[in-house]
Amino acid sequence: MRIAVGISGASGTVYGQRLVQRLVEAGVEVVLTASPTLAQLVPAELGGTFDPLAPDLDAFLGADVAARVSYRRPDDVGADVASGSFRLDGVVICPASTGFLGRVSVGASTNLLERMCEVALKEGRKLILVPRETPLSEIALNAMLVLARAGAVILPASPGFYHRPASIDDLVDFVVQKILDRLGVDVDLVRRWS
Ligand SMILES: Cc1cc2nc3c(=O)[nH]c(=O)nc-3n(C[C@H](O)[C@H](O)[C@H](O)COP(=O)(O)O)c2cc1C
Repeated sequence: MRIAVGISGASGTVYGQRLVQRLVEAGVEVVLTASPTLAQLVPAELGGTFDPLAPDLDAFLGADVAARVSYRRPDDVGADVASGSFRLDGVVICPASTGFLGRVSVGASTNLLERMCEVALKEGRKLILVPRETPLSEIALNAMLVLARAGAVILPASPGFYHRPASIDDLVDFVVQKILDRLGVDVDLVRRWS
């Protein structure tokens, strides 16, 4: 299985980081790209630095995971994942900012992340978008409705509590589990309701 992951400029970069780690641990081939805003978000949320044009993936993902991830620059709209002929089993944008959702909802792609979504929709591929914003304006809600009607799965980063989370890791894993389930990756990160 090959999945393209884009980390857009919403709070919750830890969700994208953990998603990539869990996908790679599950043996999934991951092509990663990140929005320029990560240069501000990673220092604010995770510490350290992140250059979206040439990130230190060892620092961001851990060396073992980083060695098995391919990275594409967000300005590289000619990258393999920008083409409908490149084989992909799904695209996930995690987290996805509301600005990002607005641009994709009107077909106004400005970078590789947005192009990947545009291509996933036109090719009928699995597209999972993970917004992290609250409250939501009518504009953001409308963008999500347009995208859902076009075939995207809107999967908000809103963890449940019935698995009795004891740590932030448990909350993050809850959301990542939902994404893995939608992708069809068979991994159990959290205790399931039974
Ligand atoms: C520290 C920080 C936190 C942000 N958090 C959010 C957020 O949670 N949700 C959101 O939709 N936008 C958030 N934004 C705003 C977006 O980053 C901004 O609108 C950006 O232009 C989105 O474009 P991008 O996703 O292509 O990077 C945040 C920005 C910064 C600097």
